Amino acid sequence: KTVHILNGPNLNLLGEREPEIYGRTTLADIETLCRAEADAHGLEVVFRQTNAEHEMVELIQAARKGAAGIVINPAAFSYAAFPVLDALKAVDCPVIEVHLSNIHRRDEAWRAKSIMTAVSTGIISGLGAQGYALAVRHIGTLARG
Ligand code: DQA
Repeated sequence: KTVHILNGPNLNLLGEREPEIYGRTTLADIETLCRAEADAHGLEVVFRQTNAEHEMVELIQAARKGAAGIVINPAAFSYAAFPVLDALKAVDCPVIEVHLSNIHRRDEAWRAKSIMTAVSTGIISGLGAQGYALAVRHIGTLARG
């Protein structure tokens, strides 16, 4: 079974982008961490990042049937991307929403209200890169049955 780890806009800039908030960890570092965790659970990994909403919809649709789970950091898609929300509604696997920062503790109040949370199985926010690994671990535990 496969865990799909999907990353939204601007996460390709991790490590350089607002390091005081998101830290120095790069997306490649997060991928390495996720692959190690997935390996430990015998899961295959699809790891992707996109800045394009339509591409995110297609990545979710590709995971629609038979995936072990989806780990998604929707980034700023969290706040207005209803097509992404609808795509998540159509999948048959658990969806763990991950944010590196604690979205309830940011300067801008609008960041706290992710529209995806209404369809996510669970949400991890504020644990940095470890949040991804914990999400993969959870999916690995579920997949083992
Ligand atoms: C983020 C938080 C969002 O508010 C922001 O738009 C991001 C990253 C996070 O991982 O903390 O791009 O999802």
